[in-house]
Amino acid sequence: MNFASDNVYGVHPKILASLSEANAATSPSYGGDSFTARAEERLKEVFGCDLRAFLVTTGTAANGLSLSAITPGYGAIICNAEAHISVDECNSPEMFTGGAKIMGLQGTGGKITPAQVEKTLKGFIRGEHDPKPKGVSLTNATELGTVYSPAEVTAFSRLIRPRGMKLHMDGARFANAVAGLGVTPAELTWKAGVDVLSFGATKNGAMMLEAVIFFDLSLAEDFAYRRMRSGQLISKSRYLGAQMLAYLEGGLWLENARRANALAQKLAAGLTRTGTVRIPNPVEANEVFAVMPRSLYDRLLASGAMFYDWMPDSLGGAIGDHEIFTRFVLSFATPEDEVERFVQLVAAG
Ligand SMILES: Cc1ncc(COP(=O)(O)O)c(C=O)c1O
Repeated sequence: MNFASDNVYGVHPKILASLSEANAATSPSYGGDSFTARAEERLKEVFGCDLRAFLVTTGTAANGLSLSAITPGYGAIICNAEAHISVDECNSPEMFTGGAKIMGLQGTGGKITPAQVEKTLKGFIRGEHDPKPKGVSLTNATELGTVYSPAEVTAFSRLIRPRGMKLHMDGARFANAVAGLGVTPAELTWKAGVDVLSFGATKNGAMMLEAVIFFDLSLAEDFAYRRMRSGQLISKSRYLGAQMLAYLEGGLWLENARRANALAQKLAAGLTRTGTVRIPNPVEANEVFAVMPRSLYDRLLASGAMFYDWMPDSLGGAIGDHEIFTRFVLSFATPEDEVERFVQLVAAG
């Protein structure tokens, strides 16, 4: 029973088969291969617009590189205080951007609001003594398993676009957000004013693959140099293109996400039924966050179940001394009976 993360599971067989196919012949390198070119064309179809897509190997690189295209080192990017770019990437965004300030705002359920951003912007009154606000980064699905709707995303772009700021979306779990909301990829991105998206695939069935997708094509200018300089233009690029082709083919990316999300709903409902576990945030994607007695937590870990405890700060102190905040992540490959067995284990306590 492994609910530690969605990346503890392996690669979807269709993606492995695509890698195997790409392995069969020689191919041009450094992005000049047909797999990469076709992947970009497929992404245009999936998002229903013109775009530029650059394939990279990690979400951390996708985020740092995306942000480097929207802010210089003297800029600031506003996000949630628990955003991956703020607390989980070892200052990689600061490095890629040459020193931009990543400003995390406290928010509930992993989100921030346009009102918070507006208030924060009012504090930039000292000219060059402050960093220059250059962008907002929203994680969708969020680090706490909630989602921003297209209307919510639009509210951010309406606020910041007139101020010359850009909107980035960390979509490490973008597929789960789209599947959870039942909207189109276009509605959740460029139609809502997103300028650049870190489009995740690794957590949802790929081996190592994310795409930096520019909807604002002007931001893509010179991006090839940024990617090369960061060591993210890989020579055997066909293996990234092949992963993306299989990921998108026949809607595999959404099929995988729907399955993971459905398992999260099943787990949340089962845990709630036991009456011993509290789920403070809505479960809107493939993650379940639960508050449980420490005694139960110890017993579950002793039984071999794997999951993480999580920073209780995001609950705003609403946690007792003998309680612990925990995270469960469901994947496209999580066996359904493991969810059932886990709920039984909790119920038995
Ligand atoms: C929301 C979010 N963004 C970015 C990343 C970074 O991805 P990677 O581990 O591939 O660098 C993660 C990984 O956990 C994540 O959860």
